[in-house]
Amino acid sequence: MEDISNIEKDILNLILDNIYNGVYLADGEGRTIYVNKTFEEMSGIPLRDLKDKKLYDLVYKYKYFTGSATLIVLQTKKHATATYRTITNKNFLVKGKPIFDNNGNIKYVVNTIWDLTNIIYNDSIDLDTVKNFKLPANNLISSNKRMNDVIDMAIKIAPTDCTTLIMGETGSGKSLLAEIIHNLSPRKNFPFIKINCAAIPESLIESELFGYESGAFTGASIKGKKGLIEMANNGTLFLDEISELPYHLQSKILFFLQDKEFIKVGGQKPTKSNVRIISASNKDLYKLTKEGKFRDDLFYRLNVVTLHIPSLKERHEDIPLLTKHFLEKFNIKYNFNKTISEEVIDLFIKKNWEGNIRELENTIERIVLLSKTEYIQLEDIKRLNIDNILHNIKNTGKLQDILNDVERQILQTEKISGKTTREIAKTLGISQSKVVRLLQKHNIM
Ligand SMILES: Nc1ncnc2c1ncn2[C@@H]1O[C@H](COP(=O)(O)OP(=O)(O)O)[C@@H](O)[C@H]1O
Ligand SMILES: [Mg+2]
Repeated sequence: MEDISNIEKDILNLILDNIYNGVYLADGEGRTIYVNKTFEEMSGIPLRDLKDKKLYDLVYKYKYFTGSATLIVLQTKKHATATYRTITNKNFLVKGKPIFDNNGNIKYVVNTIWDLTNIIYNDSIDLDTVKNFKLPANNLISSNKRMNDVIDMAIKIAPTDCTTLIMGETGSGKSLLAEIIHNLSPRKNFPFIKINCAAIPESLIESELFGYESGAFTGASIKGKKGLIEMANNGTLFLDEISELPYHLQSKILFFLQDKEFIKVGGQKPTKSNVRIISASNKDLYKLTKEGKFRDDLFYRLNVVTLHIPSLKERHEDIPLLTKHFLEKFNIKYNFNKTISEEVIDLFIKKNWEGNIRELENTIERIVLLSKTEYIQLEDIKRLNIDNILHNIKNTGKLQDILNDVERQILQTEKISGKTTREIAKTLGISQSKVVRLLQKHNIM
């Protein structure tokens, strides 16, 4: 910026301070050079607190941020996206871009920032249901080109109301992305409500979604009940595993998408709700329509914009990043200070990860919990034999604890393999409602 005249500098500052996004500039060593006014305002952190400090220290020493796109860019020398929380309790989505000098070294990292912070929704009507369907706050990181393109697209369509379909293998980040889209939209201070169409028994989905009028059926509450569509008013309804929505309810959702109104179970008159629909599927919906298992008219309605999340094996470069990210997460959670050898990371890069990021996350949690040494090496992994659940069972302690552990691991393995609750029920020879109960008991999502 040396040869810019003063007038041009003023104009540059005027622009930078008045654009909608936060801007955060760091040098090739990760030292903070500049943030714009928008960043100061949205974070509540003044430039003077950050200037000349290294991102590494801001994250690990001063704890200003729980993560950093700059650090990922410096590590991978590529564009990167990260979401994180600030010390002032804000949630940010950051896209970082490297600027290279003539020798191919990173000279600057330019970060563009979006505010994902929302005011937590509180509703006295059915707080428990809303709470149950809210996703835990989780951070997204990626330096993969395709994933960054998907995020760019998500940023573009988020402020619109357009119906969005997210496709991707189980555990690849569909739910996380849906929540980010909601938090990037003007609807972010209204509810984000998630319903997993595969987890709720068929007989209950209709009344969960649409609610019922008083006395709609025996056992129905006298007051009637609001459905999730009504509770999501002004917000976003996330229909997860939409392929599992029973055929007759597919038409009811289609009518809702067309008219923005619906009729409660046992009701006569239509109710209105202003809801944006995001749906997700790990099955090929197009193929299902060809097989007559999914209504094609609904498919075309849902699929105004489709975001395809690449599977973890299609983005190897994210594996070391994610491994370190989760290692840190579980070190904090369990109060450890464990590290992982490069050999283990290499093994992870080669692994197939059918359960994608969820499987990687669960694997690291188990390793952190069960490894006996601080420094986790290949032998530890072999000893833990992560592919064989029985080897993970601690054979000490009370019988009930051991059985509990086995139960949890079996369900986790089934869920990771991408099966629906209906399919798990069939495999294990138990009822679907029991599967749902057990998944809830063990907190498996
Ligand atoms: N890019 C990412 N970076 C970090 N964590 C991620 C990322 N994508 C997904 N996760 C985590 O992986 C797990 C599975 O993601 P989720 O969105 O539930 O997958 P899906 O809905 O596709 O099954 C969650 O714990 C989520 O927070
Ligand atoms: Mg999901």
